[in-house]
Amino acid sequence: MGFVEIDQHREALKGKLRDLDILRKALIAELDAINLYQSQILTLENEEAKKVLAHIMNEEKEHAAELLCVIKLLDEEEAKQLEKYLKAGKVDKCAEEH
Ligand SMILES: [Fe+2]
Repeated sequence: MGFVEIDQHREALKGKLRDLDILRKALIAELDAINLYQSQILTLENEEAKKVLAHIMNEEKEHAAELLCVIKLLDEEEAKQLEKYLKAGKVDKCAEEH
């Protein structure tokens, strides 16, 4: 799917679906930012610079959590799934056989 098709898809969305589309894309951006900062922290040599980027990375994690919170409020099925898996507590409980 090209960028033009994606833009047309976004234009076709209305109301809550459009809001969810925007929020999910914002969540993707936050997760990408976390990965970027993590790799930069591993590459940096200066300890103070590492601390600053670690602080920023943790803020991005908070932003991701805030976005999930809003998505949960707008998407009943996502809320149901998040409630189920956030209580898991162990990695082996993070997947369910279907
Ligand atoms: Fe952010």
